[in-house]
Amino acid sequence: MELFDAPQRASRWCEKHRAEGQRIGMVPTMGALHEGHLRLVERAASENDLCIASIFVNPLQFNERSDYDAYPRDLERDAKLLGRHGCDMAFTGALVDFFPGHDEPAGIELLDPGPFAEGLEGEYRPGHFAGVRTIVERLFLTCRPDRAYFGEKDFQQTLVVRDLAGILGFPEVVVCPTVREPGGLAMSSRNRRLSEAQRIEATAIYRALDAARAAWRAGERNRGALRAIMHRVLAGSALQVEYVDVRDPRHWSDDDPSRDVQQGQALIAARCGAVRLIDNMRLDA
Ligand code: PAF
Repeated sequence: MELFDAPQRASRWCEKHRAEGQRIGMVPTMGALHEGHLRLVERAASENDLCIASIFVNPLQFNERSDYDAYPRDLERDAKLLGRHGCDMAFTGALVDFFPGHDEPAGIELLDPGPFAEGLEGEYRPGHFAGVRTIVERLFLTCRPDRAYFGEKDFQQTLVVRDLAGILGFPEVVVCPTVREPGGLAMSSRNRRLSEAQRIEATAIYRALDAARAAWRAGERNRGALRAIMHRVLAGSALQVEYVDVRDPRHWSDDDPSRDVQQGQALIAARCGAVRLIDNMRLDA
């Protein structure tokens, strides 16, 4: 696998291979890779002529500087994993390589994150999706991939990115299933910061989503009732809930709790100690 430390080199590599008619699948990451990322890489490698990955801890999408500083970084390990799982090229870079003239986030003009950034993560992490959309646009423009692969765990992010890709006219956004630990906890780079006891505690999120899915299968369609079911499960844990919701992705801005939904995505954010966790589940699948 080729590893470049500057997006400009990655751009040239992609240009050369595109000119040869090769199709490129891209996996954007912030490193600290886990099984979830590796499934994305394997799928991108199997569905395209070439698989590429970016590793860039994006300061524009963090709400707190301390969270950005604490984000785990291990480039050597990540590069080895990517190579072993079929990635052909990976690249990193500094902020200034993506935004010439800017060593720091201050002064960088962020994109409007679009309609899917409203509510939930958008409400609890103001500015987060503007930061995500801005860097993802740069990554797409750097590599011009045919397809880009994202995990369903960051469900709202996948909506924001699809909206961006629709405007750019590329790439095809492929959303891949959430990979879970044996107890149901969604894989996340943040899980490294959980103790063993917290990992068990955090499975309440999955159990709450699963309870909503069971209720859906039994015929429940009311958002308020589905939310109450999830709240009940979470109330039996030590997690601090930020939000619990059921949304129809086709009508994202409709958050009326009294409404019935015909397509439902249950979404939860909760804190387990100092670690913020998110997860979701499609109820009508
Ligand atoms: O999901 C992530 O890891 C990040 O939000 C992304 C898409 C790489 C943008 O920084």
